[in-house]
Amino acid sequence: MTEDDQLIEAAKRAREFAVAEFSKFRVGASLVADDGRVFTGCNVENATYGLTVCAERVAIWKALSEGARGFKRIVVVADTETLTPPCGACRQIIWEFCGDLPVTLANLSGATETHQMRELFPLAFDARFLDEKNRKP
Ligand code: THU
Repeated sequence: MTEDDQLIEAAKRAREFAVAEFSKFRVGASLVADDGRVFTGCNVENATYGLTVCAERVAIWKALSEGARGFKRIVVVADTETLTPPCGACRQIIWEFCGDLPVTLANLSGATETHQMRELFPLAFDARFLDEKNRKP
């Protein structure tokens, strides 16, 4: 099995754990850290709806909380014909913690596509703007 296939399989397995009783929309993610570890996540919904956390952010929070820093790629799996991309909130978080990495989208029928994060999230706001030097002309 190629590395791609392994990561897609890991994201599919994570998707099976989705806590998505409200939307019934199940998503899985797998994230490869620079140190080689693979972290997975599923979406977790709750009764407030608004406190839902997407699969991508669950994988990132798990990785950061296990000490991983720096990431090579992320894979997102959902059961949609048009492949499901990360939501806006996840794009912000992926950009800030993972940078310009490749984002692979896949479904359960074998379709995949890969986008660079800078293309999914142009003109990003990030910590560089908080630098004092950036605030004044
Ligand atoms: N969702 C994800 O987990 N990742 C995405 O990339 C898109 C959306 C989740 C959030 C919510 O639980 C459900 O899918 C419907 O929006």
